[in-house]
Amino acid sequence: MDFNFIDLSIIVFKMTTPIYDFVKKYSESGAARFHMPGHKGVSLIGCEEFDITEISGADVLYSANGIIAESEDNLSRLYGSAHSFYSTEGSTLAIKAMLALVSERKGDERPLILAARNVHAAFVRAAALLDLDVEWIYPNEEEHLCRCIISPRDIQIAVERSDRRISAVYVTSPDYLGNISDIANLAKTCKKYGIPLLVDNAHGAYLKLLPEDMHPITQGAAMCADSAHKTLPVLTGGTYLHISPDYPEYAERARGALSLFASTSPSYLTLASLDLCNKRLSEDYPEKIRALAERSVELKAKITSLGYKICDGEPLKIVIKADESLAHHLREQGIEPEFSDGYYTVLMLTPENSEADFERLLSALSSFDPSSLAVSAEPIAPKPHRAEMTIREAVLSPCEIIAVEHSEGRICASPTVSCPPAVPIVISGERITAEDVRLFIHYGIKTVSVVK
Ligand SMILES: Cc1ncc(COP(=O)(O)O)c(C=O)c1O
Repeated sequence: MDFNFIDLSIIVFKMTTPIYDFVKKYSESGAARFHMPGHKGVSLIGCEEFDITEISGADVLYSANGIIAESEDNLSRLYGSAHSFYSTEGSTLAIKAMLALVSERKGDERPLILAARNVHAAFVRAAALLDLDVEWIYPNEEEHLCRCIISPRDIQIAVERSDRRISAVYVTSPDYLGNISDIANLAKTCKKYGIPLLVDNAHGAYLKLLPEDMHPITQGAAMCADSAHKTLPVLTGGTYLHISPDYPEYAERARGALSLFASTSPSYLTLASLDLCNKRLSEDYPEKIRALAERSVELKAKITSLGYKICDGEPLKIVIKADESLAHHLREQGIEPEFSDGYYTVLMLTPENSEADFERLLSALSSFDPSSLAVSAEPIAPKPHRAEMTIREAVLSPCEIIAVEHSEGRICASPTVSCPPAVPIVISGERITAEDVRLFIHYGIKTVSVVK
């Protein structure tokens, strides 16, 4: 990857931390808390004093005009968006909001989304709630469940073949195995047809900080969902919904779309961590990410020299082709990978990993024999299925839970996933095939919900 240095002009503004300052000041005030949460700031695990609710001055997440609005403005400037919104309920919420924003109903017309098939289950659940139709783009070759890189030509063919208006194109990039799509060219093609490009960028909040800015908003996407908590120093659930300056109309309606699915009790612990993270992003983090990307190149070279097969892709993931014995060995050495499915072992790095972590990893890999790995052919990702009913009809139909061994020929009701990677093997409304049953078993799925 060719790294040019990050354009620091985006981060030359005075960075404030209004949410963190507010909760800290409040926790130090000694106020008698006649409000939620029930722990009243008394410590059970050590963080309760910062865990507050929407008291006076604390703003309200989905009608923000105080400290949360100020903090989101900081974030928007960092990412160069029309506006960036916080979610404390993960990309799971931000994905639903993105889809709601593009699914305005025009008369009897049903919204249709063109999506690469490796979606996270959150997409399918959103399609059920919003009653969306989906046209899937499948990989051209046999692929792993998590991978489905589509090309501008795939979009062109699908759009020109369709006799319906397409509400949005939807891709997952980076995917769980570190593959990054060519968002710039996909976005160009989408713009040509006047279709917004939505990106599940759950794994890519840090892409903004690479010397070559690879963030979907910079690359031309209309919106994206970034699980900041996956790759930045943010508490679990902390997420960004970014809206491109080219699509300001979505920014006006985004809080409404988020609140359609969100809890009215956002976590102020998570909000404060999102707020503080802005400060890190404006200070040392671009440099730390750049240094880590360089270190990652060295680590991958070293691991390759030990005899392992490493996949190309994201700088902050090390993806090793390996059966489960490698993950087992790493756990025995006190190293917990992000994901392992018998085909790949995925390790996620951030600047919060220490050099000692990397030494430990190299030492553990050195004490294992890579030639002992029985890396079988990749599982074949789902082939095109015929939908027997809409996703919503299937999810809301009377259903029963049966053993996967008996599921062939039945219609899938709720999305059935192993988590991670939470990529559905069959989509709700599709008839389950023998191949799907094989994949269920491979991913340790024992039961499946089918339409009665
Ligand atoms: C590709 C992808 N999209 C979306 C999500 C959901 O993100 P979150 O856990 O932030 O709700 C995940 C979670 O792992 C994911 O891997």
